[in-house]
Amino acid sequence: MDAHITVLAGDGVGPEVTAEAVACLSAVAERFGHRFTFQDALIGGAAVDASGDPLPEATLTSCRASHAVLLGAVGGPAWDRHPRAQRPESGLLRLRKALGLFANLRPVTVHPALEDASPLKPEVVCGTDLMFVRELSGGLYFGEPRSYSDDAAVNTLPYTRPEVERVAKVAFDLASRRRKRLVSVDKANVLETSRLWRKVVDDLAPAYPDVAVQHAYVDSFAMALITRPRDFDVVLTENLFGDILSDEAAVLAGSLGLLPSASLGGSVGLFEPIHGSAPDIAGQDRANPIGTILSAAMLLRHGLGLEAEAAAVEGAVDAVLRSGHGTGDLQGARHPQGTRALGTRIREGIHAPVAATPR
Ligand code: IPM
Ligand code: MN
Repeated sequence: MDAHITVLAGDGVGPEVTAEAVACLSAVAERFGHRFTFQDALIGGAAVDASGDPLPEATLTSCRASHAVLLGAVGGPAWDRHPRAQRPESGLLRLRKALGLFANLRPVTVHPALEDASPLKPEVVCGTDLMFVRELSGGLYFGEPRSYSDDAAVNTLPYTRPEVERVAKVAFDLASRRRKRLVSVDKANVLETSRLWRKVVDDLAPAYPDVAVQHAYVDSFAMALITRPRDFDVVLTENLFGDILSDEAAVLAGSLGLLPSASLGGSVGLFEPIHGSAPDIAGQDRANPIGTILSAAMLLRHGLGLEAEAAAVEGAVDAVLRSGHGTGDLQGARHPQGTRALGTRIREGIHAPVAATPR
């Protein structure tokens, strides 16, 4: 197939990790006989520096004209003192909103070679296989009124039934194709929007008789997530809770640098690692490219409908981790590698896959 992909490298380690993911996508195109074209565009701090706007019109136009968008990361200390509209993060939030991306999928699995990479006990984390579904275009991130002065500040947490329903359906659908368990995380003992959230989920449940639904309060779920992660399958939650819990869940996998995401719901999907721009290691060939490479796999699967191609990328990542290669963030990687060397190894595995060995 022919596909046009907009690449938003962004700030910090963004350019380094997207370069490796683009190379992997090119390897996929070669092996499977597709033609992918890549268009670079500015977002975040890089866009602020170039144009004063963290999401220039040209970037949005390019994204809208693409089959999928691959993003690195945005943000950094250079822009921390800017007013909100000129902060890198505003560019990303506006992009998600403008593309209508209300469902953010964040899979968290524990690779058998990395069971010791987590500070948690191997017997707690092994076999973890979670899919977070984070609501992405509502809640506190976008709620009005919002205001700031040095004496008082306001944020608002609104949700409507249709907003909850559409993201909950994504979670139910995923659960019915996975292990058929859905936990919806809220704070219904305190928040009205959480009461609505719970009601909407319960109202939908009869339409998915094969899915077992459970509700959890976010505080106790935060504990359950790292004490008994294997008890959960699909986790549905609102925007801010999902932001926090998915970083927490990265502890299970062994590093934030491993985890990908897919933002869906509009006509073009956005695919990005869940980690930030890591300014402290930017430009040093130290960033873990795997989160972005696995985001490219999600782009193939969810953005372009190319399942075998997505599996080829995931297989190449799996083989590299099994062979003990990894960047410095992976505690106990037997063969430490830089960003480029690790990316190259994965790309070579896409070209010439090694037979999977049983685990
Ligand atoms: C994420 C990030 C973003 C978010 C920031 C950069 C706006 O933390 O994708 O998890 O909070 O959604
Ligand atoms: Mn986050």
